[in-house]
Amino acid sequence: MKRAKIAIIGAGNVGATCAHWAAQKELGDIVLLDIPDKEGVAKGKMIDLACCGPIERFDGMLTGTSDYKDIAGADVVVITAGLPRKPGMSRDDLIETNVKIVKSVSENVREYAPDSIVIVVSNPLDAMVYTAWKATGFPTSRIMGQAGALDVARFSTFIAWEIGCSVEDVQAILLGGHGDDMVPLPRLTSVHGIPVSDLLPEEKITACVERAKVGGGEIVKLMGTSAWYAPASGTIQMVEAIVRDKKRIIPSAAYLDGEFGAKGLFVGVPALLGSGGVEKIVEFKLTPDEQKLFDESASHVEELVGVVKRMFPELA
Ligand code: NAI
Ligand code: 2OP
Repeated sequence: MKRAKIAIIGAGNVGATCAHWAAQKELGDIVLLDIPDKEGVAKGKMIDLACCGPIERFDGMLTGTSDYKDIAGADVVVITAGLPRKPGMSRDDLIETNVKIVKSVSENVREYAPDSIVIVVSNPLDAMVYTAWKATGFPTSRIMGQAGALDVARFSTFIAWEIGCSVEDVQAILLGGHGDDMVPLPRLTSVHGIPVSDLLPEEKITACVERAKVGGGEIVKLMGTSAWYAPASGTIQMVEAIVRDKKRIIPSAAYLDGEFGAKGLFVGVPALLGSGGVEKIVEFKLTPDEQKLFDESASHVEELVGVVKRMFPELA
């Protein structure tokens, strides 16, 4: 059977850690690409990672490069190129610089890997997915963003810590954009099938919801830059679902055409991911309060996309 090929654009913290998880899971051959000034970093990290193979027992061709010809034939392209947050910055503060970067990366993806499925990670996430969609011209099933996989993992971790149980027994759902107005859904969160509201008092659940919403900012304050282990882990969960055609339902920034009441936007929703990319949006009924929170989050995404369209009319 042919090995999958995964191209990761941006050899920084998130990109290199995506390569790490993907190699360890033996998902396929991996190309890590950065700008020409950082070609040595991309190459060096991939040689270093390849030398873990004999210890960790994985095979696969690992390539570091700055040449887009090396991404030809990629099944999945992960875009992590762009500036990360510094303390005091919101994800939205990155918009102008990162649109330029994601636009130029996407144009290269369109040229060199025209049949690929693209997962965007660069922030502000939902607006960057829109940018990649416009700049590649790919069908919406082949463009998505990683945020929900991370945000729901953070929420699940905080719930498990409160209960003192294994994270493996927590099941949670989260919707909305990748901002502080994301929407974890405690009503549909359970621990080994038991509603979380039977196991924790409301104020503890609310504290977990609030901590998940600012989970990215908590780490930025501590480290002076944004997180990479869990963002990369969430991204590679999506890559695995696609290259192994697992049909996993993973919260992803996916194109909505009326689902959950949103239209023409990429927003976080449960998406069924398989070899076709986003194969289905898994829609379910929200309570009026949940719908209100989702609408607010989606309207923030719409505002950000409006900023992109005003700054870069060619992406409108
Ligand atoms: P980083 O600074 O460690 O790495 C970014 C890399 O992108 C650098 O190596 C840089 O040279 C490269 N780059 C810049 N312009 C490029 C171009 N035109 N072509 C190819 N490579 C280019 O940053 P980090 O921590 O890896 O974060 C990357 C992005 O991911 C940021 O925008 C950050 O905000 C975002 N992020 C998103 C998350 C999510 O859940 N969606 C979570 C964590 C970070
Ligand atoms: C995070 O949530 C900054 O988006 C990044 O960690």
